[in-house]
Amino acid sequence: MKKIIVTLGFIVVALCGYAQPQLNANNIDAVVKAMTLEEKCHFVLGRGMHYNDDDKFPGTAGSTFSVARLGIPETYCADSQQGLRMNANRAWDHRDYYTTDFVASMTLASTWDREAAFKVGQGIGNEVREFGLDWILSPAMNLIRNPLCGRNHEYYSEDPYLSGTIAAGYVNGVQSEGTAACPKHFVANNQETNRNSNISQVSQRALREIYLKAFEIMVKESNPWTIMTSYNKLNGPYAVQNRELLTTIVRDEWGWKGMYVSDWNAGDDAVAAMLAGNDMLQPGQDKQYQAILEAAKSGKLPMEVLDANVKRILEYVVKTHNYKGHKYSNEPDLKAHAQTVREVGADGIVLLKNNGILPLTGKSVALFGCTSYDWISGGSGFGGTSVGHYTVSLVEGMRSAGYEVYKPLISIYKQHLADEEKRLFPEGRPPFSLTPPARAEEKQFETGLLNDAIRHSDVAIISIGRKSGEAADRSEADFYLKEGEKQLIKAVSEAYHAQGKKVIVLLDICSPIDVASWQDQVDALVCTWQGGQESGFSVADVLSGKVNPSGKLPMTFQINYGDAYADKNFPANVDDKTLGAMFMWGYDKDKAPKERQPQKDIDFTNYEEDIYVGYRYFDSFGKPVAYPFGFGLSYTTFSYENMTCSVDGDFVTVKVDVKNTGTRAGRNVVELFVAAPNSKKLNKPEKELRNYAKTRLLKPGESETITMKVTTADLASFNEKASAWKTDAGVYTFMICSSANDVEAKTTAKVKAWTKKVNNVMKPNVKLNLLHR
Ligand code: BGC
Repeated sequence: MKKIIVTLGFIVVALCGYAQPQLNANNIDAVVKAMTLEEKCHFVLGRGMHYNDDDKFPGTAGSTFSVARLGIPETYCADSQQGLRMNANRAWDHRDYYTTDFVASMTLASTWDREAAFKVGQGIGNEVREFGLDWILSPAMNLIRNPLCGRNHEYYSEDPYLSGTIAAGYVNGVQSEGTAACPKHFVANNQETNRNSNISQVSQRALREIYLKAFEIMVKESNPWTIMTSYNKLNGPYAVQNRELLTTIVRDEWGWKGMYVSDWNAGDDAVAAMLAGNDMLQPGQDKQYQAILEAAKSGKLPMEVLDANVKRILEYVVKTHNYKGHKYSNEPDLKAHAQTVREVGADGIVLLKNNGILPLTGKSVALFGCTSYDWISGGSGFGGTSVGHYTVSLVEGMRSAGYEVYKPLISIYKQHLADEEKRLFPEGRPPFSLTPPARAEEKQFETGLLNDAIRHSDVAIISIGRKSGEAADRSEADFYLKEGEKQLIKAVSEAYHAQGKKVIVLLDICSPIDVASWQDQVDALVCTWQGGQESGFSVADVLSGKVNPSGKLPMTFQINYGDAYADKNFPANVDDKTLGAMFMWGYDKDKAPKERQPQKDIDFTNYEEDIYVGYRYFDSFGKPVAYPFGFGLSYTTFSYENMTCSVDGDFVTVKVDVKNTGTRAGRNVVELFVAAPNSKKLNKPEKELRNYAKTRLLKPGESETITMKVTTADLASFNEKASAWKTDAGVYTFMICSSANDVEAKTTAKVKAWTKKVNNVMKPNVKLNLLHR
């Protein structure tokens, strides 16, 4: 008898087990139904950060909840846009797990090359896959609104079209490897100061035309599997808790069906986030679990809403490598990826000024400036690197290109950097710091030493460095050169010029700095940006002429800080102590003083420049700049001939022949700007970037016909009164430009009216004093 009961028991258990659906792409609803309420509440939360040496993937940002009985595996995510951020070493493991340090986003955007973006995304997606993870928390793609934002190096451009298309290239690359991308931080997260609580107050028009536009283009061109919502509040509620933003605009209007994940510990109300449509909260907190569970029990969080969130997470899970049981190799092709870094790094370098010294003809160089010996490959923070095995130094890069690097300076700087290290960090460097550590002050030289260097070198190269990152913005002072940097440039330039020799300055920077006040002293100015692990090689490739520079600025270099209208509303001068304290309030809201008066640019930031961000401001209001958006020189010259523009229904097709008229092979970026009729009267920008293309490598004398399309919808502005996108009928001017300030060819075309009504949502809840033409 006993035997029969036991057997029956086994049969029942086996049947129940059998009756439990096992997750697959076609039974997601059944799996949601089979989950207990507790499982659902766990499932919408992350599983904490993986920061112990003994974790499966130490040093990574998190993972998702697994439910083994329903065949739902844990899936794994990591930062960042510059490479897979994961510790190279693990407990109980003899090997290392170095990943590739790709290029900073700003460098990538400077290529103006969608294929380069695809290649970088593909390389990162492949490393995520081959190291056993599923999901990369990138690309970061907030608009560059101000040169002092600490995370600019993680972002692409001041222009939504360039940002959106480069991001789309990257997402397509990541997802071509079956890895989930996660464009972030959605949206209007344009400063780091008080980032967890600041309210961005933005007009509906600027939101639609500038800040949302970049994401809209990316969503439509690449359909990311996930999107990360940002820390900041936007026109009232936290972005992560804003249903109008997440559901009405993105899901209902744009038709996006993917999964939202919050930025790490964003927001203050887990239930509101669920109701807004934010499917997953990372890294997950116990109190969030309790709040969601209680709200689901009480009906405050309707079960259909929770189920919809769970369903969208499952739709992501079934696409992942871990769900599919991918047998990862831990051996991605790091060599091939290094080659990509070198090439893209060189293509992202922007030649700003060249008085005939470049490409270098001499064979011996003297390297000045601490940054020449302490090269910066990327920014700091979680979005920065700390991945990669090495950074190819400038010295190594130049030597490998066959240059003799003046040796005495190498030992002088080595000693100087060691002394500075002791001065700046008497107790040693902290093992981890979110914000960039202080950098050495410049060394000055006596005439004798300088003269020796001049005697032994054909040219002087001075590197100027700036590093920034998450959690802090740069200060206004950081925009300008320090006294020591000014003195060094002056002394070296005067001494070299006195001997008839030239001086090149390299800008190894995270965001624009002042160049206008000192660049006349030097012969060439090269913006190298931050090019990842191979940067020494990439820089040498461009200086030597092995690669002809083809990068273009993805943002304006303004003359002074304060020149841009957006500078009026940005926290440019907050002291470090206040910054640090505010950062902690973000994580522990109870620590914030209760009775604080809201402070401008800290608690709220009014985007009074409205749509006039970057070149849209300088160009429309006739303000001079140091270097305009889209600017970049080459070692050859190009002509633009036979421009035509034809309209067929809703499509405008622009064609132009680009010819290499110089003596060296090179690639050229063709920028298509469009001016709307009556732009001034109608308060529209003078002209806007509507498309771009990059030629193949053209030999001297060779030409290529470039074709670019624009739709009538692409030309629309947002009309707040009508809550509609509107393209006015009329004659539009189509311009082929080599920068926002340099029109090379133009023609006009008659465009039909077009309009599309959208929801009247995301209104600012304060009156904004907006700039108007
Ligand atoms: C950053 C995100 C990042 C996340 C996880 C946050 O502090 O803002 O960009 O993905 O941490 O590391």
